[in-house]
Amino acid sequence: MTAVDARTGTPPTQLRFPDGFRWGTATAAYQIEGAAAEDGRTPSIWDTFSHTPGRVRNGDTGDVAADHYHRMRADVALMKRLGVSDYRFSVAWPRVQPTGRGPAHQKGLDFYRRLTDELLGAGIRPVATLYHWDLPQELEDAGGWPQRESADRFARYAQLTAEALGDRVATWTTLNEPWCAAFLGYASGEHAPGRTEPAAALRAAHHLNLAHGRAVQALRAALPPSAEISLTLNLHAVRPLTRSDADRDAARRIDALGNRIFLDPVFHGRLPQDLVRDTEALTDWSFVRDGDLRTAREPIDSLGVNYYAPTVVAAGTCPAPSPWPGAEAHVRFPRLPGPRTAMDWPVDAEGLYELLTGLRDRLPDVPLLVTENGAAYEDHVDPAGRVRDPERIAYLRAHLTAVHRAMARGADVRGYFLWSLLDNFEWAYGYGKRFGIVHVDFGTQRRTPKDSARWYADVIARGGPIACDTPGGDA
Ligand code: FCB
Repeated sequence: MTAVDARTGTPPTQLRFPDGFRWGTATAAYQIEGAAAEDGRTPSIWDTFSHTPGRVRNGDTGDVAADHYHRMRADVALMKRLGVSDYRFSVAWPRVQPTGRGPAHQKGLDFYRRLTDELLGAGIRPVATLYHWDLPQELEDAGGWPQRESADRFARYAQLTAEALGDRVATWTTLNEPWCAAFLGYASGEHAPGRTEPAAALRAAHHLNLAHGRAVQALRAALPPSAEISLTLNLHAVRPLTRSDADRDAARRIDALGNRIFLDPVFHGRLPQDLVRDTEALTDWSFVRDGDLRTAREPIDSLGVNYYAPTVVAAGTCPAPSPWPGAEAHVRFPRLPGPRTAMDWPVDAEGLYELLTGLRDRLPDVPLLVTENGAAYEDHVDPAGRVRDPERIAYLRAHLTAVHRAMARGADVRGYFLWSLLDNFEWAYGYGKRFGIVHVDFGTQRRTPKDSARWYADVIARGGPIACDTPGGDA
């Protein structure tokens, strides 16, 4: 590129990521597969939740979704054209172990055998997540994540899946965003199973940490030594609104409930003591048994980080039920000016830089993967059949620039997975929010790569984007 930047008058800089950097896209089973009742799959908590009136906008469900279950080959071909090196997908627990108990269900596993074969044939590395929120309904009926038994069940499911797919999946992620599973699922009730029980949400968080550790043990036993085992967290880039003691204390609470509640058990085998104090009116944490935190700390090979927007916190109050058990009387989340996505989330790439450099300091020996990053905008196919999404391209460019800058300052980031390959079922928002770089017409299931798909293919081919000149800003 020889063009000169219109604002700064300087030639644009081509960023180069290291050779071997993993360029991927990400999806999740319930959001794209559809085929909800096919080949023996039983309902998950998201089937129940989405079929409950008033839970998901427009009454949308994942029954058909992007029909990926039947269009998998064409979707892998799309990825091959993009040139991605890796694809992060999730395995639907109720497909491969219907009801969450008993033996592996071969028909369900066959889908993932076909998918991984197709990926390997296309030269794409499969990155599998075992839990992207689709708990078999029977396990919720038995109490769900607040019940300790769910952790045992999860370890068994991990073992069955690893035995079947261990020869083809390079990277295994135990859980996706346990914060959302615990706190949106059991405290605020915005996600399945829709419970508003703050103390139960804290139990759920602990049992998810335990489930992670038990699953790591099961995976290590079933997989070849070369397998990479990981965990994906939606760590919060927490910023106090001001430097006042009160705002900083509010930020500390959210850092404890949003980040350290997972990072401390998983990487240090301990519970944050300030969290235990902050939540003492809700629980005495006696559900944490001897040895649990040692299990949660089972060594892993990398940490996945999902990032969309920062979390700005001030002293104040927020309405209950909230996803922040015990913090409602101490924190508020001020709305700041600036550009926003269709989710009404602020566009702020600096938060990703802060998160990655913060992890460099907190966990200096842990390789990182950005396992999700992307943006929803209101996309339309124009009469010429094109989807112009310049805002998404600007968002992605700014965030990739932030990743590059963090790496230049020592963050050990090994890959970037764009959320998402396809427009999909965006949980409680249904199909109204489009995150894909490939547009999906949910009436016809027609796929149309957006301008951002072409842009991403070009980034991958060049080994990096043209830099965005204002950190945190737009290009
Ligand atoms: C993350 C989820 C993912 C997707 C994005 C927008 O929290 O992991 O499934 O919905 O948000």
